[in-house]
Amino acid sequence: MKALLNKLNWRYATKKFDHSKKVSSENLKILLEAARLTASSYGLQPYHFYVIEEANIRTKLKKASFDQPQITDASHLLVLANKPTFDATMIDDYIANIMAVRGLSKDDLLGFSQTMKSTLLDQADTFKGSWTSNQAYIVLGNLMTVAAEMKIDTCPMEGFDKAQYNEILGLTDKGLNTAVVLAVGYRSADDATQNYPKVRYSKEQIITHI
Ligand SMILES: Cc1cc2nc3c(=O)[nH]c(=O)nc-3n(C[C@H](O)[C@H](O)[C@H](O)COP(=O)(O)O)c2cc1C
Repeated sequence: MKALLNKLNWRYATKKFDHSKKVSSENLKILLEAARLTASSYGLQPYHFYVIEEANIRTKLKKASFDQPQITDASHLLVLANKPTFDATMIDDYIANIMAVRGLSKDDLLGFSQTMKSTLLDQADTFKGSWTSNQAYIVLGNLMTVAAEMKIDTCPMEGFDKAQYNEILGLTDKGLNTAVVLAVGYRSADDATQNYPKVRYSKEQIITHI
């Protein structure tokens, strides 16, 4: 466990990536599998992941990200997109998936399906959008920890224009919205940020045992 904490101390929001260092396809697959395995509320997985390598698209995304260099310099850019709204179809698709994977009938899952529908479907789109975005942020946290465990650097990013990202990536037509972005790669040796001590509240300030 100490080793994992050392890696969490080692990781930092990388400001300058070494553009020449690429994450291998094998390691990328592990990261994406970790994303896929992330827990979500009810297990609904109301999101989709984009892996962006294409240089022209990344140049456009950089412009839509206040010119932050991580967007083009990192090995890969992961865009975690959430569903800004949804209807019964999303729940029915999930139920069909459970039926197939676990060999259950529709009747077996009727109560679960009705619970999800009665809890979620009458909510306003503003609630639905922020709820699905919350789920995408759990993926973000999981990805950062797994990447650190593999000594892969990341920068979580929400400093970008969502409308422009949605436009560049054609997300709106697909019923998606950019929730948050993770630049993935390897730090540049001359990124001074890696030497900055971590700024965190003390355990006493941030943890209460009751
Ligand atoms: C959701 C989220 C969004 C962030 N957006 C940006 C960003 O757009 N650009 C950036 O350089 N850092 C961004 N950061 C990095 C934070 O500033 C950084 O994680 C925080 O200062 C703690 O430092 P550390 O991650 O290096 O330990 C973001 C972090 C999170 C969690």
